[in-house]
Amino acid sequence: MADFTGKVGLIVGVANHRSLAWAIAQATSKGGANLILTYQGRFEEHVGELAETLTPKPLVLPLDVTNDDEIAAVYKKIQEVHGGLDFVVHGAAFASREEITGRFLNTSRDGFKQALDISAYSLIAMARGAQPLMAARGGGSVLTLTFLGSDRVFPNYNVMGVAKAALESSVRYLAADLGPENIRVNAISAGPVKTLAAAGIGGFSSILGVVREKAPLRRAIETSEVGDAAAFLLSDAGRGVTGEILMVDAGFHILGM
Ligand SMILES: NC(=O)c1ccc[n+]([C@@H]2O[C@H](COP(=O)([O-])OP(=O)(O)OC[C@H]3O[C@@H](n4cnc5c(N)ncnc54)[C@H](O)[C@@H]3O)[C@@H](O)[C@H]2O)c1
Repeated sequence: MADFTGKVGLIVGVANHRSLAWAIAQATSKGGANLILTYQGRFEEHVGELAETLTPKPLVLPLDVTNDDEIAAVYKKIQEVHGGLDFVVHGAAFASREEITGRFLNTSRDGFKQALDISAYSLIAMARGAQPLMAARGGGSVLTLTFLGSDRVFPNYNVMGVAKAALESSVRYLAADLGPENIRVNAISAGPVKTLAAAGIGGFSSILGVVREKAPLRRAIETSEVGDAAAFLLSDAGRGVTGEILMVDAGFHILGM
């Protein structure tokens, strides 16, 4: 198990117990991490209840990643309470339902801007806020979550695919920019899991069905597998890895057909 004794980590993107970010919270908490969880508006109660199950009990703060003042407030609070930060998990993504059902050709200008702002730009904003707190600790680790739809076409994934391509490119640019301060930036490209976000993608169950049938491991992944891979990248065990997109998808990405 990865050791997080004495480490402080911020986890953005928990909505409920199915969230990939929640699996990462559990894996890092088990290793001894002291966590800060954020919630988006309507998820306050769920996230509060989940936080109660972890030891030590995480600080729980509101955060909409499109709001720079809220991002600043989260980091200010972390500075006051912990004096520094060792890792950040960025698990926020959104595209409106109209954009992830139907033809890609019909992607609207507003829908494109919103998907790219929430799902890609926010990683840059979160990394910028974390940088002084991590530099004060001699380095840190930033992790985001992506999907193979960045690179290959999946039905209805549409503008989220474009957002994930921008996100993955941002991982590489941030890794190059922050590397000299010993801050690592990586992504996990997870196989499909039925979470709240995934439920919004038209025909998601058929994607899951194809993966179960064709992936080398002949199954879909479990969120705990993302949690364990994340723990590796976020801990000192992953200290030589940056700018990487780690595939945790039961091998599906290697297939030609
Ligand atoms: N579920 C999958 O199949 C799958 C596969 C690969 C990658 N991912 C990625 O994993 C990440 C987590 O998604 P999930 O599947 O766990 O679903 P989820 O619905 O549990 O999590 C998505 C999170 O994004 C947050 N969010 C959306 N807009 C936000 C905003 N403006 N400000 C703050 N938070 C905001 C939501 O509150 C929620 O907590 C996403 O980036 C998703 O694209 C998911």
